[in-house]
Amino acid sequence: MIVASLMVLACTAAEPMDKLTRRVFDRARAQSLVIDRRLAPDKVPVTFENGEIKDGKLNGWTSGFYPGTLWYIYEYSGDSQILEVAKRRTEALDSLLGMKTHHDIGFQVNCSYGNGYRLTANPAYRDMIVAAAAKLAGRFNPVVGCTMSWNPNEKWKFRVIIDNMMNLELLLNAARLSGNDSLKQMACSHANTTLKNHFRPDASSYHVVEYDPETGKVLKRHTHQGFCDESAWSRGQSWGLYGFTMMFRETGDSTYLNHAKRIAAYIIPMLPEDGVPEWDFNAPGTKRAFGLDAKGAPKPEVWKWKEGDKVPRDASAAAVIASGLIELSTYCEGPERELYRKTAVKIMRTLASKEYLAEEGENAGFLLKHGAFNLHKWSGVDAPLNYADYYYLEALLRYAQLNKK
Ligand code: GLY
Repeated sequence: MIVASLMVLACTAAEPMDKLTRRVFDRARAQSLVIDRRLAPDKVPVTFENGEIKDGKLNGWTSGFYPGTLWYIYEYSGDSQILEVAKRRTEALDSLLGMKTHHDIGFQVNCSYGNGYRLTANPAYRDMIVAAAAKLAGRFNPVVGCTMSWNPNEKWKFRVIIDNMMNLELLLNAARLSGNDSLKQMACSHANTTLKNHFRPDASSYHVVEYDPETGKVLKRHTHQGFCDESAWSRGQSWGLYGFTMMFRETGDSTYLNHAKRIAAYIIPMLPEDGVPEWDFNAPGTKRAFGLDAKGAPKPEVWKWKEGDKVPRDASAAAVIASGLIELSTYCEGPERELYRKTAVKIMRTLASKEYLAEEGENAGFLLKHGAFNLHKWSGVDAPLNYADYYYLEALLRYAQLNKK
């Protein structure tokens, strides 16, 4: 009887996090080599759709995530084969500065060269970080107080998206490495302006804010990838959480810490039972759904969801939230710290389940399934995303490091 009860207990006990982490990193190692074998050196793995791997260009916004994923696998395992691939896939981006670039040069270079420099101290990587930051700084407008996100179009001259909070880490990293304090001032100005203009009273954020570049006046707030203009696109919320937590780490300014806590307080109650958010917290089918007639909602001709369908989840938003919450927990104590860690662990466990974690050789070599890129174009829906893999491994590493401190 006692033996039987012990067996039941053993079967139902949760997998220890260190074991789960090892299992996921072993899988990530195998999967990352599948991608390396499949993809030409000048191609970037973006997603896997309709049975085919979708690759991207070196100057695409996600080009730093696969090299960054390799750096994290190397950091965890010390594996020399992965180190070689990480260097090769990072250095494939050497030509980036000569190409048409954009605000996401922050993601591209910080995730690849940034991690590479942190782990190898290669001076060429340092030079790349500093040069890329100079390019990003060229997009700063002192009247608006922000770096420009997308380039101007016919209608809008200066657009800033919440995602751009993530690119500030490159400016801050380069400021530290080069001693150029003006880069840090730009990052702070961008964060302060975003804090003022991008957020609603409940600490959810708009996706896009349009500015007048001559006066700095806000002209419009709306969405590009969220369900509608007034909804809370879950990846956008995750970029904000992570970005303001990172700003506190880099500056010690408690305004950023308090804001990150407010964003966390918004996000956590919105998460479903298993912790992986729907693609938008107000998408049809969610607890706080807005109607399909809401301003800025996807056009009927692209919208493929109908009542009764599962609401698409976004594993990438989940991974970014987990990673952000783990870092945020290190700046807090008591119940707040507990809540952030408990939520992050729940997310990481769900992502390690069969539902989300690909089997070896499946999913075109990506680690996670069920991301959501853009439902307005019905692109990358219920699909793997290279940034989901990157931030998931980062979250696991951050969690593992907590226990070493
Ligand atoms: N930065 C673009 C996205 O999150 O989809």
